[in-house]
This record gives sequence, C-alpha cells and structure tokens, in this order.
Amino acid sequence: MKKVKQFLSIALVIGAGFAGVELAQAEEKIDIVVNRSPTCSCCGKWIEHLKQNNFNVKDVVSDDVRAVKTKYGVSQELASCHTAVVNGYVVEGHVPANDIKTLLKNKPSVVGISVPGMPMGTPGMEMGGKKDVYQVVSFNKNNQTQVFNSYSAE
Ligand code: CU
Ligand code: CU
Repeated sequence: MKKVKQFLSIALVIGAGFAGVELAQAEEKIDIVVNRSPTCSCCGKWIEHLKQNNFNVKDVVSDDVRAVKTKYGVSQELASCHTAVVNGYVVEGHVPANDIKTLLKNKPSVVGISVPGMPMGTPGMEMGGKKDVYQVVSFNKNNQTQVFNSYSAE
C-alpha cells in the first residue's frame, strides 16, 4: 500500500510538472507598452484587441502624445492616435495583433510598423460593417516606408 501511495505521488508530481509546462507555453504573453492620450476611446478598444490576442498591455496615459511620437521617430505622415513599444519596435496606430506577431517573429531591421491615420475597420476602429482599404507600413529611421501588409475592403 505504501508503494502504491509513493507511486501515485510521484505520478502526481510528474503530471503537475507537465501541466505546468503546457500552461506556460499557452500563456506566454507578449509585453507591450501603449502610450495614449487620456481622451482617446479607440485606443482603449485597440488595447482590448491586444489583450484578446495574448498581449500583456502596460497602458501609459500621456498628455503629450506628439512628444511621444517624436521620441520614437514617428513622423507626422505615419502618425495615428497611440504609440506602442514592443521588444524595441514601435507600433503606431491601429495595427492588427497578427501583424505585430509577424514583426516579432521575422525581426526585420526597421524602427517599427504603422497604420497611419485611423482607417475604419482596423482593430479598435470598427464602425459596423464599414471597412477602409488600408495598409500596414514599416518604416526605418530615415522615414522610408515599405508595405508590410495590406487589407482589402471586402
Ligand atoms: Cu485610434
Ligand atoms: Cu489609439
């Protein structure tokens, strides 16, 4: 009986160990800092979108988002409402979570990616069924841009 008990407790420990590993893999969250203005409601919706896609969001409210953009090298042409930083990359505007994941996986030598302005139909900018055609662009420190991903209106 003692042996059985011993066996059971060992099995339990091993089982718990495996469950722990699986849990850690499933829940490995991506840390991201989001700088936004206190009055922006679409920023909050974008943050929700990130959370639903396994991001761990640090929400930083700033009264001068323009200064934040200057600090991170986001030009006027590329600017949107919020400016996020993830693993050293800048993410400007309503960029879909999957594009951020692609960025982190491929690690291109760019400053960051942006969805300039606030196109309708981007995550956090849902307006019923209305959707703009929009692009996610990458940019380098000379402000040269490249198309990173395109979304059609459908
Ligand atoms: Cu916005
Ligand atoms: Cu925003």
